Amino acid sequence: MGNEERWVQPALEMPKRRDILAIVLIILPWTLLITVWHQSTIAPLLAVHKDEGSDGRPDLGQGSDLKEYCSSDRDIVEVVRTEYVYTRPPPWSDNLPTIHVITPTYSRPVQKAELTRLSNTLLHVPNLHWILVEDSQRRTPLVTRMLRETGLNYTHLNVETPRNYKLRGDMRDPRIPRGTMQRNLALRWLRETFNKNNSEPGIVYFADDDNTYSLELFEEMRTTRKVSVWPVAFVGGLRYESPKVNAVGKVYGWKTVFDPHRPFAIDMAGFAVNLRLILQRSQAYFKLRGVKGGYQESSLLRELVTLNDLEPKAANCTKILVWHTRTEKPVLVNEGKKGFTDPNVEI
Ligand SMILES: *[C@@H]1O[C@H](CO)[C@@H](O)[C@H](O)[C@H]1NC(C)=O
Ligand SMILES: *[C@@H]1O[C@H](CO)[C@@H](O)[C@H](O)[C@H]1NC(C)=O
Ligand SMILES: *[C@@H]1O[C@H](CO)[C@@H](O)[C@H](O)[C@H]1NC(C)=O
Repeated sequence: MGNEERWVQPALEMPKRRDILAIVLIILPWTLLITVWHQSTIAPLLAVHKDEGSDGRPDLGQGSDLKEYCSSDRDIVEVVRTEYVYTRPPPWSDNLPTIHVITPTYSRPVQKAELTRLSNTLLHVPNLHWILVEDSQRRTPLVTRMLRETGLNYTHLNVETPRNYKLRGDMRDPRIPRGTMQRNLALRWLRETFNKNNSEPGIVYFADDDNTYSLELFEEMRTTRKVSVWPVAFVGGLRYESPKVNAVGKVYGWKTVFDPHRPFAIDMAGFAVNLRLILQRSQAYFKLRGVKGGYQESSLLRELVTLNDLEPKAANCTKILVWHTRTEKPVLVNEGKKGFTDPNVEI
């Protein structure tokens, strides 16, 4: 009995293997054929979806095609969505004023990191034109490459601040504050580029590369008629500095510890100007020399407006939409009973 079984087994197995081989040889060509045929039916479908336009949504109204679409092409929808996400910045609109963001910058170890962080913010803002001004003898390859790769609408300028400039017999501070010549060059560029009489509507904002900006800020400033103002956090030794706004929504003073008697006790990041005003007051520049610390902003603003003209933004200056975020920890003064800034304001 045992012997018989051992001899029978191989005899049964041999034809089985042959059968499987035959079946495989028959099925394989058919599988290939069906695969090729199936793909050639998907390919035109793909083309049709691309043609359906930028919104990336297929027309589901065609009843007979619906079932085929749902069963086989979920992954194609994903692909179309991915394409959509990467179209930055937002499309240019004819209805919105352009925001001209002026950023002075200089070479230092964290420069690329700061500019990358700022450009990532600006990429979310519609109708934005970035004027980046390097403090250097020539435009550097690092900044040139970075700007080209952002996809932003930009203008790349440069001017080097002379070092240790000193007028003979002048006892005032001989240094030109960092960024001043660069901001002035951008103002000159705007005046040479846009026609005073009928330029496109625009807003001018000075955005240093080491601050943090809320996207909401750009929409607040877009409606600036002359000069708009708002609070800035972590500046002047306070949690935040702010214009003082009265019950009828007018600016009447400044919540600051550092020299509140300045004509405009406001940080560079705390105001925006209508382009028309910049073009009309063509002599208005930041003063280069003999300007005490903290008076830079006043030297430009006093040429443009009076306190009465200021338009408070950010919910009548009660919301923080921009922060000084230098890498050092901010040193905050003890406000004591004076209470310059409201501890309940969220920053
Ligand atoms: C870039 O900005 C200029 C000036 O504001 C504008 O005329 C132009 O249409 C913009 N270009 C693009 C591609 O958005
Ligand atoms: C603007 O208009 C004034 C008066 O209408 C004219 O004298 C001046 O040349 C114009 N300026 C420009 C830049 O077109
Ligand atoms: C600002 O204050 C004025 C006067 O109290 C008020 O009319 C206006 O609605 C306020 N604006 C906002 C955005 O809260």
